[in-house]
Amino acid sequence: LLPDEIDPQLDLTRCCVAVIDVLRATSVMSTAGKAGALDIVTYASSEEARRMAKQSEVPSLLCGERHCIKIEGFDLGNSPSEYTTEQVTGKRVIMTTTNGTAAIAKSQTAGEMICVSLLNFSASVKELSGHESVCIVCAGTNGRISSEDVLLAGGLVDALKVRDQETGLDDSARIAWALWQQSVGTGKPDASRIVEELRRSQGGRNLQAIGHGDDIAVCSQIDSVEGIIRRVSSNPPTFRYQ
Ligand code: MLT
Repeated sequence: LLPDEIDPQLDLTRCCVAVIDVLRATSVMSTAGKAGALDIVTYASSEEARRMAKQSEVPSLLCGERHCIKIEGFDLGNSPSEYTTEQVTGKRVIMTTTNGTAAIAKSQTAGEMICVSLLNFSASVKELSGHESVCIVCAGTNGRISSEDVLLAGGLVDALKVRDQETGLDDSARIAWALWQQSVGTGKPDASRIVEELRRSQGGRNLQAIGHGDDIAVCSQIDSVEGIIRRVSSNPPTFRYQ
């Protein structure tokens, strides 16, 4: 449920890790990928992102937030609606966010990694269902659990139909699944129930408080993106839309 809570017994090198930051980092990554970004390179620190953008040999955009606000001097913030085809096609997105890109960095030893949002839910489920071991990492918010991330984690558990529900799921996965069943139900997810749930979450309330409430509906558009965001290289973590 948090990147610092990954079971130390777990050999991440044997897992496909699914990193989730619904509001908003992994939603932005899905949107940028769909809009034609060349690739997405993530950094935990803004200084490193700045340095790498200066050294980049391909057209690049410096993107990200702190306290949900675009970082001074950066090209784009962390609203999915900023990532239009006009802005990102053919460009490298160099990205740093408070929790999302930090979660990616903390999961660096993963054998494989995808970044998952509600936007590319079904495509991500399809990818994960081909793996024997899946570790879902929720980014959370400043070290605290975010219900929107746990909700999507539960949706993945629900859709993956883990064969052995007694031994195949740990307690975190069970908790996430229970939240999904309680909030969204089973069967085809209902976008209006998801958006309601996201509005009520702490992350959702934070966004509404700073005038970015519109992003909540955008980040709730389940299956509006057909591709996955796959890590293609790990140092620095680099992702491509496939
Ligand atoms: C993060 O990575 O902390 C979030 O995506 C914050 C945000 O909503 O901008």
